[in-house]
Amino acid sequence: MPVKRIAVNTGGGDAPGLNAVIRAIVLSAERRGWEIFGIRQGYNGLLDGSADGVVRLDRAAVRGITHMGGTILGTTNRGDPTDFPSPQPDGTVRRVDRSQEVVDRCRERGFDALIAIGGDGSLRIASRLSDLGLPVVGVPKTIDNDLAATVVTFGFHTAVETATDAIGKLHSTAEAHERIMVVELMGRHTGWIALFAGLSGTADVILIPEIPYHLDRIGEHIQWRYEMGRRFAIVVVAEGASAAGEAPSFKESDSQSGGARYGGIAERLAAQLAEHTGYETRSLVLGHLQRGGQPNAYDRLLSLRFGAAAVQLVADACFGCMVALDPPNVEAVPLADAVDRIKSVPTDGDVVQTARAMGVSLGD
Ligand code: F6P
Repeated sequence: MPVKRIAVNTGGGDAPGLNAVIRAIVLSAERRGWEIFGIRQGYNGLLDGSADGVVRLDRAAVRGITHMGGTILGTTNRGDPTDFPSPQPDGTVRRVDRSQEVVDRCRERGFDALIAIGGDGSLRIASRLSDLGLPVVGVPKTIDNDLAATVVTFGFHTAVETATDAIGKLHSTAEAHERIMVVELMGRHTGWIALFAGLSGTADVILIPEIPYHLDRIGEHIQWRYEMGRRFAIVVVAEGASAAGEAPSFKESDSQSGGARYGGIAERLAAQLAEHTGYETRSLVLGHLQRGGQPNAYDRLLSLRFGAAAVQLVADACFGCMVALDPPNVEAVPLADAVDRIKSVPTDGDVVQTARAMGVSLGD
């Protein structure tokens, strides 16, 4: 069998478990006698032509990384080759499509396939490269868990654990000061982290993008708690949640990635609730803590399974595909199925029903 040369990269926001995927890819590919190469910082390592932009990954390079957060390859959400920022002599930045260049560079280097580990944006790029003829296999990653075609993405369960722990810690300070604490969790389009961590962390109010909220309903719920003698409240809000009829809260737009950044809803809501209820209120944003740290055991195992399955797909020449969890198995699904829509929280699903059954306010 001819030696296969496989490239692997990690793109978009990091998620706990990336290194475990890389290790599983390298070890299972080496056992087949294949060579693995890591592209640094998304596709930048290929496009910038630097000497160390593409590195050989062997057993030694991936030793002892299963438990590590981040990614040994680095990542970026500013290097989309289909919309690449190109600084002009006049100081402006033009955006150019360099995807054919990625395909050409991979061919020049003799890569037989690319394993792209990423979320919706990165897998959309992978799908485009596949359309241009590059043999690509995708591995779904995002703490937000909003990727379609897989029941869960790695990183999500670790983020939920981190957020649950933080919500738990807020209880004592909220109770001591008789305050409303509003905590903002990640989740631009979906409320997976907010719902799972909010429920596990016993929040009183959980607000998610899938269920537009009404301020007066939240106020009534908090008022009822205080009158019952529980003179504090924990409100969990996904960064992309919004009041009925209102737009989500955005920070300034990120000129380099070209995208708008969500954020600010906790601060805004805290001010509104203070005014509405008359109770003392504080807000915090958990932010990138949710992406950091070691993957938990669930995410390590899922990542290792995804990595080994991705190599199997390359062996089977199942290109234009993504590995996906369809319990109890890891299966192959078309990349296009993963990127053509977002996986939202089902509002009639049992987790939402559990929250309602227990009297948790969802703001509606
Ligand atoms: O990974 C997705 C996500 O966590 C979103 O929930 C969040 O809005 C975004 O990443 C922030 O990413 P960055 O700060 O890296 O642009």
